Amino acid sequence: MSLWPEYRRLQQQLGEIEQLGLGNPFFLPQERVVNNTTTIGDRELINFATYNYVGLCGDPRVSAAAQAAIDRYGTSVSASRLVSGQKPLHQELEQAIADFIGAEASIVYVGGHATNVTTIGHLFGKDDLIAYDAFSHNSIIQGCLLSGASLLPFPHNDWQALASLLQERRHRHRRVLIAIEGVYSTDGDIPNLPAFVELKQRYQTLLLVDEAHSIGAIGATGRGIGELFGVDPHAVDLWMGTLSKSFASCGGYIAGSREMVEYLKFTAPGFVYSVGISPPNAAATLTAIQVLKTEPERVARLRDGAQLFLTLAQKRGLNTGLSQGSPVIPVIVGDALKSVCLSRLLFEQGINVPFMFYPSVPKDAARLRFFVTCNHTEEQIRYTVKIVAEALDKLN
Ligand SMILES: Cc1ncc(COP(=O)(O)O)c(C=O)c1O
Repeated sequence: MSLWPEYRRLQQQLGEIEQLGLGNPFFLPQERVVNNTTTIGDRELINFATYNYVGLCGDPRVSAAAQAAIDRYGTSVSASRLVSGQKPLHQELEQAIADFIGAEASIVYVGGHATNVTTIGHLFGKDDLIAYDAFSHNSIIQGCLLSGASLLPFPHNDWQALASLLQERRHRHRRVLIAIEGVYSTDGDIPNLPAFVELKQRYQTLLLVDEAHSIGAIGATGRGIGELFGVDPHAVDLWMGTLSKSFASCGGYIAGSREMVEYLKFTAPGFVYSVGISPPNAAATLTAIQVLKTEPERVARLRDGAQLFLTLAQKRGLNTGLSQGSPVIPVIVGDALKSVCLSRLLFEQGINVPFMFYPSVPKDAARLRFFVTCNHTEEQIRYTVKIVAEALDKLN
């Protein structure tokens, strides 16, 4: 391995960061539940590095449900659900997810990333076409590659460009999938879902919406982008989401028609040949959904906090890119090392926020990515934006 050029490249990048005297910013252990604050080493910091959007990871009711599930079922289901890993909890969870979204049924997998890879990889093949947004998450792209379908990245959010591409190419393929996200994980913007639904109907395609960052986080009661736009949930074929963000757990789901879910449960490799989601993870999500249904004010608080952050950041002249109406707010600084330095300066001032650079984002668009949660206080947000603007001035 030490001779592999890929490994050497990695070492070179890590070396460059180390030369800045910033220490190693990766794999920093967080000592407790992370929400609007975190503890790293012996320091408590304001935290913008968690997907715990509605504060349900660490909620005593969610933790108690996970503990009760362990007491009853143990820590693993120890088999694929198709054979002997099924628990009543699994059915309850899948019903709860489907009901929350307004779909007929859902299937839960053990990982969010794996959900996209195995579902997309399995449903589509060489006679098919997958048109995916150019800003799509790695899990969508890996699924596309695995499928062997023809691939067509379209310019970010540009449904008009996609319409012309489909006009030209739809007839050449058996099935076509359009893949988009509910909130883009790198940029925090939201696509025009009704326009994509209209396109899928016009060109007789399937539509997948990855709601990793939108389920639980947007829409009046956290039911995601469908609720935000008032779109009929049945208009989307594959509602994909992760359990690791608003749902306080680990895993992923596809919600859709009864037939689609049944087919996946009997044939998707990442489901059939993989263990079922663990009892504590299943119970945590189930309870997180129940709590969110009774406490939709969490979503309203999240929306207000994110809006405050965005407005203040824009007033200070920070480049927040395309972010709008979501809790994902980038501050784009351009250069990769600058993003690392800025993150470090903030860390020194008591703020934990991750940097992000190529290949996750374009080479000239390195950034810090702030994830607001419903627990951030106005004071924390105001302090953070002020410190970011000052630190950036200093760096510039
Ligand atoms: C858009 C998107 N899809 C899928 C995933 C994968 O989810 P998980 O981290 O739960 O595996 C992520 C993870 O951040 C994501 O941002």
